[in-house]
Amino acid sequence: MAAMKCLVLREVHGSLVLEERPDLQPGPGEVVVRLHAAALNRRDWWITQGMYPGIELPCVLGSDGAGIVTQCGDGVSDELAGQEVVLNPGLDWGDNPAVQDAQFTILGLPADGTFATEIVIDAAQVFPRPGHLDWNESAALPLGGVTAYRAVFAQGRLQAGERVLITGIGGGVATFALQFAVAAGAEVWVTSSSEEKIHRAGKLGARGGFLYTDDTWWKTMVQEAGAPQLIIDSAGGPGYRALLNAVDNGGRIVSYGATAGPPDRLDLFKLFWKQLHLIGSTMGSPTDFQEMLDLVNRHEIHPVIDGVFPLEDGDQAVRKMADSPQFGKYVLSID
Ligand SMILES: NC(=O)c1ccc[n+]([C@@H]2O[C@H](COP(=O)([O-])OP(=O)(O)OC[C@H]3O[C@@H](n4cnc5c(N)ncnc54)[C@H](OP(=O)(O)O)[C@@H]3O)[C@@H](O)[C@H]2O)c1
Repeated sequence: MAAMKCLVLREVHGSLVLEERPDLQPGPGEVVVRLHAAALNRRDWWITQGMYPGIELPCVLGSDGAGIVTQCGDGVSDELAGQEVVLNPGLDWGDNPAVQDAQFTILGLPADGTFATEIVIDAAQVFPRPGHLDWNESAALPLGGVTAYRAVFAQGRLQAGERVLITGIGGGVATFALQFAVAAGAEVWVTSSSEEKIHRAGKLGARGGFLYTDDTWWKTMVQEAGAPQLIIDSAGGPGYRALLNAVDNGGRIVSYGATAGPPDRLDLFKLFWKQLHLIGSTMGSPTDFQEMLDLVNRHEIHPVIDGVFPLEDGDQAVRKMADSPQFGKYVLSID
């Protein structure tokens, strides 16, 4: 019986095409989850463009999902059946909280992902979904949430009262970083290419923001707001130089991405004279994921969703990411 539907990418620069496949069966230690919603990440766009390491096609893309456990494999407690869950997309992190193992992968390449009506996944990857969120919000949370959590807290070590700058605030991870830092009692500032997005960030608790399209934005920030003790960045590129200028003496810059490529120049003089800490961060451990959910539950944080598309329109949704018009997340509804 062919009852499961999924969006399959068969070739780089190709389209995500809806296909039917036989119903999934759980193996030992696995569960089948009937997905109610999935969410997009820039990763999905990079993969369609061939700009991601280790692409193996065909593949069902999608790292974010939320749904109901419908079947439990051998060795999995039957109590999981019927539970409403979110999926931790970080697979095989390993035992070291400081860094992921070599076999770490992300759901949705190489393993088939969440742009589907159902998915089979290790039972250890499913977590109860926050009760205050609807299905679309639940699906928006996992990858962006855990990446932001680790960047801000586990790696960035944000303290209440600190001044933090989050760059490119329209990004899915960046909006979570903003919400988490505000919840933690930090003074949050942002950058963006868009005045409107800075305005929207203000409604989420940002004190204000600066257009990174203006090369002197960092001077304005230092004069008007003061230098940030922590910067959370995923752009890198030529603009990274301004971050070294802006950050306070002894400050930290956490990088979790390089959307604009590598920095064109790293000013080592500034690095050592200002006693700076440049820190890398990637998604997060299962503990980070649980702590992220705890934070979201405690503060009743709602992910920022900029668009909801039916699963069938997933290809259009991924293509919309090309120019980053969104503020927050795009979601695929799977009812
Ligand atoms: N290491 C990891 O585990 C991990 C996890 C998640 C994401 N990432 C990476 O982090 C990046 C963001 O991911 P995402 O899913 O949040 O992407 P996204 O939702 O597509 O975010 C894109 C945003 O990036 C900002 N941006 C683009 N160019 C910029 C520049 N030159 N300077 C400053 N900001 C710029 C824009 O902000 P404005 O619209 O405000 O201008 C844009 O809205 C991607 O490179 C992704 O691959 C890495």
